Amino acid sequence: MKIDILTLFPEMFAPLEHSIIKRARNAGIVEINIINIRDYATDKHQTTDERLYGGGSGMVMKPEPLFAAVSACQQGDHPRIIITAPAGKTYNQTAAQELSQEGHLIIVCGHYEGIDQRFIDKCATDIFSLGDFVMTGGETAAIAITDSVVRLLPGALGDDMAAVEESFTTGLLEYPQYTRPPVWQGCEVPPVLQGGNHAQIAKWRRRQSLKTTYHNRPDLLQTASLTTEDIAYLGQLRQAEEQPFRLHAGLLHYPVYNKKKQVITTSLTNLDLHDIARAATTYALSSYYLIQPIDSQRELMATLLAHWQTGFGARYNPDREQALSIVQILPQLEDAIADIEKRYGNRPRIIVTGANLDQKITSYQAMRRLMAHEGGDYLLLFGTGYGLTKEITDMADFRLCPIYGRAGYNHLSVRSAAAIIFDRLLGE
Ligand SMILES: C[S@@+](CC[C@H](N)C(=O)[O-])C[C@H]1O[C@@H](n2cnc3c(N)ncnc32)[C@H](O)[C@@H]1O
Repeated sequence: MKIDILTLFPEMFAPLEHSIIKRARNAGIVEINIINIRDYATDKHQTTDERLYGGGSGMVMKPEPLFAAVSACQQGDHPRIIITAPAGKTYNQTAAQELSQEGHLIIVCGHYEGIDQRFIDKCATDIFSLGDFVMTGGETAAIAITDSVVRLLPGALGDDMAAVEESFTTGLLEYPQYTRPPVWQGCEVPPVLQGGNHAQIAKWRRRQSLKTTYHNRPDLLQTASLTTEDIAYLGQLRQAEEQPFRLHAGLLHYPVYNKKKQVITTSLTNLDLHDIARAATTYALSSYYLIQPIDSQRELMATLLAHWQTGFGARYNPDREQALSIVQILPQLEDAIADIEKRYGNRPRIIVTGANLDQKITSYQAMRRLMAHEGGDYLLLFGTGYGLTKEITDMADFRLCPIYGRAGYNHLSVRSAAAIIFDRLLGE
């Protein structure tokens, strides 16, 4: 394999002159050329960067020297031309494996504010980012890409198996490794590894891989190939580690905004009473509070409830009676909080929802993980009218992302929003 690295700072590539990469170069497994882009600048000052069009601070790398340098490297073949940039796709082991199958790579290191887009559009076959952070230049990224590709080339590691069992190659992270001494500072190497029973060692390692992946990169489990035994083990892990938590819902009729952003009290909506209670029961919420300060409104709600709980409705439709049994009608939000404290001994943490929340947003996935990890009680508040007031969203512990569908339209009824959010937080 040949790897040409185009850079403005050739002296930054010492890491590729040591250890395994050095051996692979010496053994003729890979040829690595560090090319100074400045050598391809044609003006008297060897200019390689210019000010940004459209304003803004910083310099951008000019397309001509880059194009001339790439053309000089190409020599009639069709190499992969890789740009490193935070805006690229995240580089990973699958990409490393794919690149290791190629005969020729050209890696272009950006610097300053980046590279003129016309060069990227014309030449790049791949744009890779190392992760969600910004470095001063692409040199470190080029070293990382080169290192990860070269060690996959046949013969580079000496023992080809070493690369087969590593993190990511099996779709999971690697299991922990130990070496001598068997006991160090009172900590023993797990006995199974000292025993020599290969089947048991393989089982232990697989389980450790699953455990590390479950904790550090649960996203990988979605695409890893898992056996039924793996899935059962992950289920056990989840059960052993999840803390019991309870989710409660509250529908606020006060304080909420009207269309003009004035603080008002809204009146009862029968559909919100029934539909949110049914969704809450389906998803095993522990309570559904209707919060309404106006006495006559609460009485009306109570009359409706009584119809379905003890009146004709209860005999006519027992399922509805079950759903409505979690409903409580209370005058103030503080009453709902106090009720949870009295029943379960915990002050609930408040989660708010809304179409236009903008500060310190929590994703549904993060909220789901946090509840399972920390346990306890959570009160999920929904607003009627034009939504919860700032006073309520400011006092909340968590603000969930607004729900986005596919269109710009986001005017869901509170019933629909509640059902979607219950599913995101508690659905299978
Ligand atoms: C200061 S950065 C440019 C950042 C760019 N203006 C942006 O906001 O996306 C300069 C160069 O560093 C390299 N670089 C910085 N962060 C990187 C990352 N996370 N992955 C890959 N390359 C990166 C790229 O080559 C980039 O052109």
